[in-house]
Order: sequence, then C-alpha cells, then structure tokens
Amino acid sequence: MKICMIGTGYVGLVSGACFADLGNIVYCVDKNKDKIDMLTNGKMPIYEPGLNEIVKKNFLSDRLKFTTDLSYAVRNSDIVFICVGTPSSKKNKSADLSYVFKAASEIGKSINKFKIIVTKSTVPICTGDKIEKIISKTKKKKLFEVVSNPEFLREGDAIRDFRFPDRIVVGSNNKKISKKLESLYEPLIKKGAVFFSTNRRGAELIKYASNAFLATKISFINEIANLCEKTNVNVEDVSLGMGLDKRIGARFLRAGPAYGGSCFPKDTKAITVTGDLFKTDLSIIKSVIQSNTKRKTLLIQRIKKILSNRIKNKKIAVLGVTFKPNTDDMRQSSSLLLIPFLQKKGAKINYYDPSGKKEEFKNLKSVFYSKNVKEACSKADLVIIHTEWDEFKTIDFKKISKRKKMKIYDMRNLYSPSKMKKLGFSYYSIGR
Ligand SMILES: NC(=O)c1ccc[n+]([C@@H]2O[C@H](COP(=O)([O-])OP(=O)(O)OC[C@H]3O[C@@H](n4cnc5c(N)ncnc54)[C@H](O)[C@@H]3O)[C@@H](O)[C@H]2O)c1
Repeated sequence: MKICMIGTGYVGLVSGACFADLGNIVYCVDKNKDKIDMLTNGKMPIYEPGLNEIVKKNFLSDRLKFTTDLSYAVRNSDIVFICVGTPSSKKNKSADLSYVFKAASEIGKSINKFKIIVTKSTVPICTGDKIEKIISKTKKKKLFEVVSNPEFLREGDAIRDFRFPDRIVVGSNNKKISKKLESLYEPLIKKGAVFFSTNRRGAELIKYASNAFLATKISFINEIANLCEKTNVNVEDVSLGMGLDKRIGARFLRAGPAYGGSCFPKDTKAITVTGDLFKTDLSIIKSVIQSNTKRKTLLIQRIKKILSNRIKNKKIAVLGVTFKPNTDDMRQSSSLLLIPFLQKKGAKINYYDPSGKKEEFKNLKSVFYSKNVKEACSKADLVIIHTEWDEFKTIDFKKISKRKKMKIYDMRNLYSPSKMKKLGFSYYSIGR
C-alpha cells in the first residue's frame, strides 16, 4: 500500500519505517526541514534502539521516502496517518490540537482521490468528528474517511512494540474501511496481534483510558512505597506479591520517581478536561495527577534529608536524566525539576546520560555533562541514579570513587541495600 505519515517524530518515524519494512511504500513528511535533511543523509533525529538499521534498509530500497512536501506525499498515498504532536495546551490542561487541525486542513487541500485519513496522534473524543468537518470544507465527504488508530508503542522498545503489539485498535464508523486497515496490519495480526475494531470515538477513548490507567498503577505503587518506607517493608516484595495476581499484573508496578515522558503527564490532564467538558468527574485520575505532582517534591525532600539539608557546594552526580532508559526524550522528565532545584541550592552537578548531553541544562551554571559514569561519580558526595539504563545496573562503586563518605540515592532500586551496606556505602533507595 502507499502510505503517508504526517509528522516524523517518535511515532511517525518508527511506524513509518516499520510499515515500509512490511513492504509498503511510505512517505514520511515533516515540516521541520532539519529533521528531513538529517534523515535523507542517513542520520537519526531521535535515539531509538534498532531504528537506524530499519530506516537505512528501507530508504536504500526506495520504500521509505522523506519529504517536507505534504501535498506531494498525500497525493501519492492511499492512507494518510496524522502523527503530529498533541502537547498540553499552554493556556490550560487540555490537549493542544492545533498541529492536528493544521495537518487536517493541509490534507484537505491536497486530496486528489479517495483517501483514508487515520489519526495516530493521541486525541480527545470527538477529534475525528472535527477533522472530518475541517476536511469537508474543501473536499466532498465521499472523497475521504476519517479513522482513529491510536498508537501504543513505548519509546525505547518502539520497534518491538510496533512489530509485536498486544493489540491494534481501529475506530471507524465504516466497516469496509476498518477491513482495509486490518489488511494493512495483516502481517502483525498473523504473528499474534489482536485486531480490535470499534467506533471512532471508542478508539479515541481507549488510548486515553489506557494511559490514565497505567499512570494510576505507577502512582499507586509509589504511594505504597511511601508507606513501606515508614513501616520497614520492602516495596519490591509488595510489587512481586501483588503482580503475581493475574488480575493485577506485574508491569508498571515498580516504585520510582514521578511518572514523566511525553504521554502520561499530558494525557492524564487532557482526559480530565474531556471529563469536565462532558460533566463527568474523573476523580481517580485527578488524584493520580495530584499524587504525581506531590511525588516530585517528596523525592527532593528526601535528597535534602540525605544531605542533612546541606546542599550548598555538595558535588552531586546524576546518572540518567531521560524519563526512561533507551530514549533521548526529556519531555516531562523529573530530572528537569530535580537538577535546577539542586543547582539553585548551590550544588555542583555532574550528570551523565547514555543518550548524550542535554540542551535543557546548557545554561545552568555549575551543571556539567560527564562523558561516563566514572567521570560523573569520582568526586561526588552524592550519586543519584535517576534513570535505569542498563549500564547503571552493574557499577563497581568502590572502583569509581575513593570517597569513603559517598552517598548513593538509587531511585530505581537497582542494587541490593544489604550488599551496598556491606560495601560500606550510605545507600538509600525507594520504599525499602
Ligand atoms: N512518543 C510516544 O511514545 C508516543 C506513544 C504513543 C502515542 N504518542 C502520540 O503520538 C503523537 C506524536 O507523538 P511524538 O512523540 O511522535 O511527537 P514528536 O513531537 O516527536 O513528533 C511530531 C512531529 O510532527 C511534526 N509536525 C507537526 N505539525 C506538522 C505538519 N503540519 N506537517 C508535518 N509535520 C508536522 C513536528 O515537526 C514533529 O517532528 C502524540 O499525539 C503523542 O501523544 C506518542
């Protein structure tokens, strides 16, 4: 099939490259010329394991094309995916749909024959109806069909998630169109993915409800971890004990920092706005948002306590700053609050992240990027393990620092408290 992905970010680029790998002709469009230039020159604009190889292979075999010309790409495609960002609005908590609507109106102007227009971006209920209205301003209804196909891939595991999804959700009010999308996904369905079709609004809500539920699981176990810290119980045991119950499940039940990233924070907020709009109080989700906000301050208080309130001139190493491992995505990472706070209090910070130096800390005095774990930690008074990248799981702390009084705050519970105690470190972790 001939496909067009509008927006070549984490979702558009990964799914575009994977669709091409399944044998389709894919046009990846982005209005950001630098991104398109990078891709045509064989460079990846994002860090995602395995992506480079798939992009190169399909680009060279001419199945994957990059362009800034939306109209050309739409005219040459049968299916057009909208994969642009839907960040939190600057004015309130709702989703900013301006990129989606702009893309819709550009698509409308470019339609030359029948197109299936698929919203992959995460959008609130009724957005499909609005896209339909925008396009029908310039094109007759029989020339297009608007479908919802929310994306569930996770950054860091995006290729695997695309190839082996638990489910593919398609929301369409037209059975024939739903079948057409089922045939696009057939290679994945044959490998075991469940194809679930519903109406358009249903699919839109499934995405928000799923993210809100996962955020709830994280906040739930984080609150249980707070209780564990007061009662001398190991939260890891609680997670394991709970997770063995199939009704609960073990995933997303690991205590740590506040949830972050480009999806959960904005999507939990946006769904409560939708709830309010339809006069439905989503009180559970609202309290999850509150709990997550509180968690950010709570962990900062914990650091203050570990350093006996003396942060000034302390050398602090931060290992990992992205919101999760195997991605370079900094959106809503809790390090964005943590590092500036410690810096303001007079700490000297060396951070290291395998995905590289971050623009976000560029202008902060006394915040430096280290080339590796050793360089970041060798003179540190406190080491904070913020993100669970694999290379942080087997650090020989004795080897990297000669400082006897070095403290370690492991926000991801990567090490055993008893082993660290035996090694003589003041070791702190989450909920144990
Ligand atoms: N990142 C994830 O893990 C993830 C997972 C599932 C769903 N989603 C959802 O998918 C959507 C995209 O997320 P993302 O993380 O890929 O965003 P992103 O910010 O990485 O990429 C969006 C891209 O769209 C481009 N763009 C915006 N308007 C355009 C236009 N009119 N024409 C061409 N290009 C345009 C931008 O330049 C940008 O490169 C969001 O709604 C998000 O909530 C994201």
